[in-house]
Amino acid sequence: MDFMDLAKERKSVRKYSDKEVEDDKIDIILEAARLAPSWANKQCWSYIVVRNKETIAEIATKGTGIFNSWLKKAPVVIVACGNPKESGSRNDMDYYLVDVGISMEHIMLQAADLGLGTCWIGWFDEKEMRRILGIPENLKVVAFTPIGYPADDSGMRTRLTKFFAGSAKRKPLEEIVHKDKW
Ligand SMILES: Cc1cc2nc3c(=O)[nH]c(=O)nc-3n(C[C@H](O)[C@H](O)[C@H](O)COP(=O)(O)O)c2cc1C
Repeated sequence: MDFMDLAKERKSVRKYSDKEVEDDKIDIILEAARLAPSWANKQCWSYIVVRNKETIAEIATKGTGIFNSWLKKAPVVIVACGNPKESGSRNDMDYYLVDVGISMEHIMLQAADLGLGTCWIGWFDEKEMRRILGIPENLKVVAFTPIGYPADDSGMRTRLTKFFAGSAKRKPLEEIVHKDKW
């Protein structure tokens, strides 16, 4: 897909069909994540691909808040971790968050290009996620995303979730771009 079309096409998907996601598509998505740029090319990220339905249900009920409970229907969840010691820090900015963030966006755009839905999940209980997935203490859980084929999401519940997630409308360029100086 043309890049601008892809950027427009990707949307947060919060309702998934029962159709299983093919292994080769997950492999392509992970390859896109692997190719992301990072601080000094340290690649501080690691990913957990969860397909086990009970584990996904536990993530949906204990690993995150009530407004993300729709996650339990997702066929796959990819959890992104970062190792802060493997990345850098400048101006009070920890670059492991940037590294993993870019890599996650590669995942989401690649998934969209394959006709798959994703949704960045930032509202989670790190301690619980660590316990559920056995994540080592030296790693930070940065985010996770469900992956699956989108289903019709016009229902009341999804609309409510979208409402709490915030409007998907973007600010106009005039509001966010400054030319030559602030
Ligand atoms: C850092 C971050 C955290 C987010 N956390 C959640 C979340 O916990 N649950 C959720 O449903 N959406 C979450 N989102 C998705 C945003 O609500 C969504 O990207 C935004 O409303 C724009 O909509 P769009 O993705 O459809 O373009 C998160 C997005 C980001 C970037």
